[in-house]
Amino acid sequence: MASVTSLTDSVQQHLASALSATRPEAAGADPLLRRSDRADYQANGILALAKKTKANPRELAAEVVSHVVTGDVIQDVEVSGPGFLNITVTDRAITANLAARYADDTGRLGVPYADAPGTTVVDYAQPNVAKEMHVGHLRSAVIGDSVTKLLEFTGENVVRRHHIGDWGTQFGMLIQYLDEHPHELDHKNAQVTGEEAMSNLDRLYKAARKLFDSDEEFKTRARRRVVDLQAGDPHTLAMWQKFVDESKIYFFSVFEKLDMEIRDADIVGESGYNDMLAETCRLLEESGVAVRSEGALCVFFDDIKGPDGKPVPLIVQKSDGGYGYAATDLSAIRDRVFHLKADTLLYVVDARQALHFKMVFETARRAGWLNDDVTAVQLAFGTVLGKDGKPFKTRAGETVRLVDLLDEAIDRASAVVREKAQDLSEEEIAERGAQVGIGAVKYADLSTSANRDYKFDLDQMVSLNGDTSVYLQYAYARIRSILRKAGEVRPAARPELALTAAERALGLHLDAFAATVAEAAAEYAPHKLAAYLYQLASLYTSFYDKCPVLKAETPEQVANRLFLCDVTARTLRQGMALLGIRTPERL
Ligand code: ARG
Repeated sequence: MASVTSLTDSVQQHLASALSATRPEAAGADPLLRRSDRADYQANGILALAKKTKANPRELAAEVVSHVVTGDVIQDVEVSGPGFLNITVTDRAITANLAARYADDTGRLGVPYADAPGTTVVDYAQPNVAKEMHVGHLRSAVIGDSVTKLLEFTGENVVRRHHIGDWGTQFGMLIQYLDEHPHELDHKNAQVTGEEAMSNLDRLYKAARKLFDSDEEFKTRARRRVVDLQAGDPHTLAMWQKFVDESKIYFFSVFEKLDMEIRDADIVGESGYNDMLAETCRLLEESGVAVRSEGALCVFFDDIKGPDGKPVPLIVQKSDGGYGYAATDLSAIRDRVFHLKADTLLYVVDARQALHFKMVFETARRAGWLNDDVTAVQLAFGTVLGKDGKPFKTRAGETVRLVDLLDEAIDRASAVVREKAQDLSEEEIAERGAQVGIGAVKYADLSTSANRDYKFDLDQMVSLNGDTSVYLQYAYARIRSILRKAGEVRPAARPELALTAAERALGLHLDAFAATVAEAAAEYAPHKLAAYLYQLASLYTSFYDKCPVLKAETPEQVANRLFLCDVTARTLRQGMALLGIRTPERL
């Protein structure tokens, strides 16, 4: 088995055995172990246990200490304060633990899989057809991409769903216009770029809108088109497909720029549930979950009221028979639960849609589609703000186009790379610039907890100092350069060597990678992984400042320090990959 028991878990097991050996009532008590600055670990659980068993905490602690087996793993344990335990582990255990991780040939650094993986459907990266992608779509894509990677790394079966906005009344207008101006989406070249695709759509949208607003007869024809579309008229559907295809060319170009793999098969937009809408309504109405109110099919909630105190319903079907966003989402839940067999539905969507999801999830619960075993969660994210702390807008007050933003990030990052570059070709600078720029944007998003708003500040994002991806990428590249310089001298673990304080701190932090990944995955919290990696890079920096690597005193020490460097590099690389960020070998 490639999975490695963490040092923390070994210490935990030692304490558990000591507790059982102490008194019968102590067996199974949680020692509340955590990393500590004073010793390697501190256990605070004896206090609660003493209170429960009416024992003197210091005496009880001393008794537990007498039962702790020291030697291989635990170097020393002593009572401190009112009854805490301070625990130090052996240098040998630290190195041996890392050596086991290093030897894991699956490349997982000994990180175990979750005990009972399930199936999670992740709904993320869901732009809208015939519309420009903006900075809000960035967050869903970046957070969703990292969360799916984290979940898959723990062994979860992940199904991706890109719930694109590809259905609705505006398509009547667009289709009717295209039908009357059939060559507007024709391409001069076989190879259409994303930019071209978007500007075609943009032009068409504006022209259609203009006609719609000025020509009553066109308006009527456009409205009729919506009905044709929903009824599945083949000609209308074919026109609609053109919009979807053209938009996908654009979406894929943006996702490629974001260095993100989005598969066509996972794009199941609102239209994908069209055939289920009528049945969803029937099921809700028959079960009494939804009721007719002024012709519309509605679901009411006790706690959801408008400013006038009147209940605000979730409208599943409008009085004119049309279906909206809620009907689609409710049908998607049925599909994901009963067809995809998911036990968790995760929605990476803007916090401003929280009320919608609250009502949709509650409706699905009442209908029995969600329950204690099959749950739905909105991973709600906050707003991207400008430097002024207001929602991010252009100087003209327009929403910022995502592509422009990404291009600017890449430009800035390329300038930083160029400035530091010593032996990089122009081509390499361009490639690194993209990896650093996109990494910077992703990291800025992922390093704050998703529900918080954050300021989009490119100067800060590409800064070499501080909590940025560039800092982490440089740390990685620096280690790789040391390993290259070592040439013939290979990294090798030397468990018999004594470690310095900086080496111990680095080693213990490396041991915590598995626990961090597990926590970040379970809580859908990539920011915890980002914080871990930042600390890892900082601990590496102090190790590197204090401990000569290639000039260490003995060949054994050189090998062991190179080994520490390499485990750090691998952990950084793996961790960054889980955030969707590249780690170039040279910068
Ligand atoms: N397309 C929507 C938007 O741009 C997001 C879709 C979210 N997912 C969902 N299942 N409703 O706001």
